Amino acid sequence: MRASDEAPGGKNPPPVRLDEYEPRARALLPRATYDYFAGGAEDEATVAANLAAYGRYRFRFKVLSSVTNPDLACEVLGARLAMPVQLAATATQKMAHPDGEVAAARAAAAAGVAYSLSTLSTVSIEDVGAACRGTRWFQLYMYRDRGITTDLIDRAAEAGYNAVQLTVDTPRLGRRERDFRNGFGLPEGMRYENLTGALQRTGESAELGQSALSSYFTDQLDSWLSWKDLEWLVSNSRLPVMAKGVVRGDDARRAVGAGVAAVIVSNHGGRQLDYSIATLDALPDVVQAVAGDVPVLVDGGVRRGTDVLKALALGARSVMIGRPYLWALAVDGEAGVSRMLELMRQELTVSMSLLGVKSLSELSEDLLVRQ
Ligand code: FNR
Repeated sequence: MRASDEAPGGKNPPPVRLDEYEPRARALLPRATYDYFAGGAEDEATVAANLAAYGRYRFRFKVLSSVTNPDLACEVLGARLAMPVQLAATATQKMAHPDGEVAAARAAAAAGVAYSLSTLSTVSIEDVGAACRGTRWFQLYMYRDRGITTDLIDRAAEAGYNAVQLTVDTPRLGRRERDFRNGFGLPEGMRYENLTGALQRTGESAELGQSALSSYFTDQLDSWLSWKDLEWLVSNSRLPVMAKGVVRGDDARRAVGAGVAAVIVSNHGGRQLDYSIATLDALPDVVQAVAGDVPVLVDGGVRRGTDVLKALALGARSVMIGRPYLWALAVDGEAGVSRMLELMRQELTVSMSLLGVKSLSELSEDLLVRQ
């Protein structure tokens, strides 16, 4: 039974916090799917670290500042977004719910936030593009074959996406041991829809298992990706390019030098190099290095409105979230993701009022103490 079938106050009332979606999704999903979504690389130390980093900050709130209706709006690459919480690219969303990426993208558009579509989506660039008119970013894995890469970014531009996010932390897949144990693969009938054209050229199937996906990364994607390739992408893309997966100030500066329009501090939700620095801890160095030249976004472990305010106080323009919306999608499709975003909006509104700030531009490090 999906959550919306249940009466409020019934045995299974609607979640009142983001984290309540996870156990419900776990009960609904096949084990291998749950593990694929929840898991990280090796010891999953970075998955835990991303979450724990938020717990180390406390607020020095302001009083008597009469904030009843704080303004949550933020601007990223010219798009006015209703709140500083965007949906990060996550692969294979039909594994969460039959409506897959379309449902999540529609919920994002309805809430006025941006949706990032993964290269490894189970709905095509064009079909997600046609299904909603909100701000959409296309996440790119770069192919060795620059022709295939160009096809993908041209398709995104044609389909009305607003930016390309090049993932720079994945020259190859991290060791996700839960997936090895489960022998994880794409369920029957699901395909990596954007790879079809690319795979037709190489004569392979788009229905890949995880170990096949891993070899696909090694064989097809560019593990030699270098700064020159980022420059190539910037000059060959009709859309602004964001670099996703930066945790160092020097790398962020170099990315700005290569012409990116935004930097995303991310360690792929702890799914790539284990024992990577928690993204909240990496953020200040990146913000300082970028020195306001481009917006800095951050993802990994954001679960509360207060987490969002902490990241923004440390200089992020917006956060992105991954797993929480996959759980909400699994539990209740588009309605689940909408409710999850609404919970975030409510938490942000209350916490900003209590913190004593009227708009996001008033958030600064002065409001935080690190314990
Ligand atoms: C991801 N992420 C990801 N990133 C990316 O650039 N391309 C991708 O295809 C995927 N796929 C993907 C699948 C799943 C199941 C997860 C959980 C994550 C990483 C994602 O964009 C983001 O960086 C993290 O999910 C953020 O961390 P949280 O919010 O999940 O803690």
